[in-house]
Amino acid sequence: MTEVVRSWLRQARRIVLLSGAGMSAESGVPIFRDAQAGLWANFRPEDFATEAAFRARPAMVWDWYQMRREAIAKVEPNAGHLAVAAFQQRHPGRLTVVTQNVDGLHQRAGSPGVLALHGNIAADQWLDPARACCEASLPGGGQPPSCATCGNLRRPAVVWFGEMLPQRELALAQQAAAACDLMLVVGTSGLVYPAAGLARSTRGKVVVVNPEATDLDDAADAVLRGSAGSLLPALLGDG
Ligand code: APR
Repeated sequence: MTEVVRSWLRQARRIVLLSGAGMSAESGVPIFRDAQAGLWANFRPEDFATEAAFRARPAMVWDWYQMRREAIAKVEPNAGHLAVAAFQQRHPGRLTVVTQNVDGLHQRAGSPGVLALHGNIAADQWLDPARACCEASLPGGGQPPSCATCGNLRRPAVVWFGEMLPQRELALAQQAAAACDLMLVVGTSGLVYPAAGLARSTRGKVVVVNPEATDLDDAADAVLRGSAGSLLPALLGDG
């Protein structure tokens, strides 16, 4: 089946790669839903990845993101990320990366124009709309940092459960999905919308790359059981 998908890719003029946490698994970044190793294994999403949780326990939530930031800073893009970026280099404008990941590894691998639907864990934003005092004053110390004048808190620039996705990135991702000839759906369980919905709304062929069954397998024209780090170089290499 890999050879068939390689032939589809050679013919595809416009390709979208929709990635999830599994794309970064071989870099050593834990996935969300793996009961043993997943990030949620020790806590429930409601405990950390919501605005209400942050307002209730800012220091605890901030520390959890700091721990993840430190872990991500120590890892490198894997062969899957690098194969995608190399393909984009050889075929400018032909492949668009849409990711649910906040780890920045596609960007660090050299992929241009990554549409990060769930934000960027390395960046912060104000919890409440910034006032003049916030912009004027560098955040004070503390965990989380805050405006020295009004106490507005800094928070991770990621999309929390129940929050809207960044409208520009979502609109561009929806346009790319609607226009593509083929969508590679890599390393996602396909459980979280609207990201997973892109694989159901695309007009292109859908190819799922995942070592395990996913919620999008039924929407796929091909399912390749394997890892991103091994299959993507095989699929996207020019050899
Ligand atoms: N290569 C490819 N896929 C892999 C690999 C690998 N090496 N290792 C694991 N996987 C697959 C798993 O089989 C699983 O299907 O990656 C998938 C990871 O699924 P999740 O942990 O649910 O992560 P994801 O689909 O990205 O979650 C979507 O949910 O919690 C929110 O905002 C969070 O962006 C996240 C969203």
